[in-house]
Amino acid sequence: MKKTESSFLSYADRRFRLSGKALIENGHPYFVPTDMLEDQSDQWPKGYLSMSHYDYLGLMHHEETTGAAKVAIDRHGTGAGASRLVGGERCAHRIFEKDLADFLGVGGVLSIISGYLTNVSVIGLLLGPKDLVIVDELAHNSIMVGARGVKAEFATYAHNNLEDLNRILNERRGEFSRVLICTEGLFSMDGDITDLPRLLEIKDQHDAWLLLDEAHSYGVLGPTGRGLCEHFGEDPSRVEIAIGTLSKSFASSGGFIAANEEVIEWLRFCLPGFVYSVGLSPSTVASAHAALGVLRREPDRVTRLRGNSVRFLQKARDLGLNTGTAIGEAVVPILFDTPEECVFVAEALMEQGIYAPPVVHIGVPKDLPRIRFFISATHTEAEIDRVLQAVLEASGAAQALSNRLSAE
Ligand SMILES: Cc1ncc(COP(=O)(O)O)c(C=O)c1O
Repeated sequence: MKKTESSFLSYADRRFRLSGKALIENGHPYFVPTDMLEDQSDQWPKGYLSMSHYDYLGLMHHEETTGAAKVAIDRHGTGAGASRLVGGERCAHRIFEKDLADFLGVGGVLSIISGYLTNVSVIGLLLGPKDLVIVDELAHNSIMVGARGVKAEFATYAHNNLEDLNRILNERRGEFSRVLICTEGLFSMDGDITDLPRLLEIKDQHDAWLLLDEAHSYGVLGPTGRGLCEHFGEDPSRVEIAIGTLSKSFASSGGFIAANEEVIEWLRFCLPGFVYSVGLSPSTVASAHAALGVLRREPDRVTRLRGNSVRFLQKARDLGLNTGTAIGEAVVPILFDTPEECVFVAEALMEQGIYAPPVVHIGVPKDLPRIRFFISATHTEAEIDRVLQAVLEASGAAQALSNRLSAE
């Protein structure tokens, strides 16, 4: 019998094309293996410098984090084996969560297998058809997917524009039973922050709740890395739900929720992404816990990270590069006029052994392509200067090429 052609392949190809497949068809700088922050390999014979890992505190290869993971595997095996509710609970889970809650100054913490899943699952649980979820327009995809997936009404406010948020709430608060505002601590694509004191004021005035995603701000913001609340000197208990990940400053993987103790107890029994998914594996908890220990003991890592980030931002600006709204805390993007220029510069950096992949549409709005630089406490001043000089030269070459092509 003749096999009929399924429509699926052409559908998948059309969707891929609409998402910008043309930009990567003739080679691209994505999925390049970088097994260490700085290393030599067949692909990088002269070695490379990574500006693309969110290992902000330089703990991914620290002897305490790797050592703790190895001991945990030897003692407890590789997997958690089950959902924690029904067999996957290990002593290490609760001990870690308690220490993390103490560090953050919150009632409790619940760890989840993925940071992305944490947002999707929590937002999904909280809201019903009579409610409103209102999201910063540039919030992370996991927040957007979570917020769009609920039966509640969905709205966005202009990025970090709290008067826009206030206006929408003034106009529409009365229509809804509950309102959840979702935003990020340190924005992962722009490296900027929201005015938390004003946000808390607005939220309280309108009897709304706040979900604050601190994925990129724990370990980064505030004098000791306790996040956006510490940065502004606000009491963390004023934030109803804070979200974190273990994949950034904590040099591991997984996500977590930080909230009031009773809320955490409710989620422990009822949050689908926790109940119906496996617990963190022993090595994952152990490395994150070890990273927390180093962070507590060595807050100067946060200071070094800040020094490097400020240097990167200042130098980039001095060189006339466009850093958008970044404030100089761990994430600094450099924006380009076109995706082509952005990809050209990223490839030129790669040729010089600097890995910082371009972020074009899918990740950010189409007209705001950028290379996002992740700064680490372990980068040196000389490395930062070298990267920026290379960006400057490559963007000059990209502009000259584009002028020549448009003149032809
Ligand atoms: C703001 C934000 N939230 C959530 C996540 C998801 O975290 P994870 O990669 O640990 O799943 C990310 C990922 O980078 C993020 O940037």
